[in-house]
Amino acid sequence: MSEDDARSARASGRAAEGPVPDETTTHFGFETVAEQDKAQRVAGVFAAVASRYDLMNDLMSGGLHRFWKRFAVDVALPRAGERILDVAGGTGDMSRLFAARVGSAGEVWLTDINGSMLGVGRDRLADAGLLVPAVQCDAERLPFPDRYFDCVCVAFGLRNMTRKEQALTEFRRVLRPGGRVLVLEFSRVWKPLEKLYDAYSFGVLPVLGGRVAGDADAYRYLAESIRMHPDQETLAEMMRNAGFEHVDWHNLSAGVVAVHRGYAP
Ligand SMILES: C[S@@+](CC[C@H](N)C(=O)[O-])C[C@H]1O[C@@H](n2cnc3c(N)ncnc32)[C@H](O)[C@@H]1O
Repeated sequence: MSEDDARSARASGRAAEGPVPDETTTHFGFETVAEQDKAQRVAGVFAAVASRYDLMNDLMSGGLHRFWKRFAVDVALPRAGERILDVAGGTGDMSRLFAARVGSAGEVWLTDINGSMLGVGRDRLADAGLLVPAVQCDAERLPFPDRYFDCVCVAFGLRNMTRKEQALTEFRRVLRPGGRVLVLEFSRVWKPLEKLYDAYSFGVLPVLGGRVAGDADAYRYLAESIRMHPDQETLAEMMRNAGFEHVDWHNLSAGVVAVHRGYAP
């Protein structure tokens, strides 16, 4: 899709018909971009909003993101002493919740590709007195040994990855047999609410992002990337294709977000 197509798609709040990304292109919101450019574009978005990211999350979701994250941690069934990998962990919300559950005998690793987001997360966790190592790395090439973790979690991160299948395969590689993967992500909202949700995402979010985080485009990307992300059933199928078993999901807030869970064989 050209930039013009992307612009008219934005105006309608829908992805326009356009060339389907091939193996060398992918989506960046409603735009089709070269695969090698996406990570850099995503990095630009998160570097720009890192310092206001937490405040924006509260404003955009009316605080609901805290409930979604707590619910995802409950679904992960973390036990004392377990090893948890927080992928694309950003400012560290999931790591903090997991650290309280696995206790001092367990391990939680905060990871993110973006140094600005990771820096905010590392400082917040240290300020809370939590010993959580922070590692800057790409989810598609994790610097951890095979079968090391009991649980891998990715919250609102998969959507931004260039090769989601590759990332899911990496999650499975670093999980022990029987280990769980948790994907908390925006998903397909209940049909009757779609119009209202579109009006909010494409009308309100960029304005809020412009005023509070000083970057309307970053929040336009958020709305577009949500629309381009696979729906509940498609993501479940991607997880099965990556080798996960017993894949299930829970819709939250009428499907605004979903928590997918799968088990490594
Ligand atoms: C919306 S934030 C989510 C942060 C945090 N998990 C939360 O729920 O608040 C998305 C994060 O994904 C990270 N990210 C994007 N692509 C990534 C990749 N390929 N590998 C690791 N992290 C990535 C971004 O840097 C950003 O911090």
